[in-house]
Amino acid sequence: MKDSEIVVETIAFVKETLKEAEGGHDWFHIQRVYSNAEQIARGEDVDLLVVSLGALLHDIADAKFHNGDESVGPRIAKRFLDSLGVGQDVIAHVVHIINNISFKNSLSNNGQPKFDSKELQIVQDADRLDAMGAIGIARAFNYGGFKNREMYNPDIAPNLNLTKEEYKTSKAPTINHFYEKLLLLKDQMNTPTGKKMAEERHAYMLGFLKQFYKEWNGQS
Ligand code: ADP
Ligand code: NI
Repeated sequence: MKDSEIVVETIAFVKETLKEAEGGHDWFHIQRVYSNAEQIARGEDVDLLVVSLGALLHDIADAKFHNGDESVGPRIAKRFLDSLGVGQDVIAHVVHIINNISFKNSLSNNGQPKFDSKELQIVQDADRLDAMGAIGIARAFNYGGFKNREMYNPDIAPNLNLTKEEYKTSKAPTINHFYEKLLLLKDQMNTPTGKKMAEERHAYMLGFLKQFYKEWNGQS
């Protein structure tokens, strides 16, 4: 099978698999991440098939809906790629990307995850970009609403030292999430193109927060 055919088949598979997915990780999230990844990859000397498949399959099974089992996604991806006859080295690389991309893992107590491929760095940047800017703001409040959290509470300060466990179970207002994660993403970008794309989105979030407080305090 040609690379382009593998990608076409994978798109169809992901669309079908994510039909019932929640808003933050639906097909449109994948489509945006895939498009970001393609843009970033343009400036890099990388295996484009691995980047495409990594982007398309990175959220194929959200551990949140599988009792926290993070092995489900990689397993589904591997089974699917095997069925297409994709080479084992490509499959291993894609599985590696799925296993290492998550924010949650990058928030682990021991600091940064270890990167060991350019392809992983690109897909991770592409995914992080979708948590920033206007889309990132929309996703954050969508998530907060789903979790029945307050938008903002001036009496609850952001906590920059949350452990992975506390982060997952936190009941903090959604605005805190900007300080605990979203505003930190800009400096965590791996690639030059990713960094550049992050700047506008970062600035947009700062502008949003400024306006939010202005309106909150009746000053606009
Ligand atoms: P991923 O699946 O990419 O590792 P998450 O599941 O942590 O990421 O987040 C998915 C989306 O939900 C992101 O846009 C993220 O900002 C948002 N989100 C995650 N946790 C929170 C939170 N505590 N408050 C608001 N938004 C959140
Ligand atoms: Ni994602």
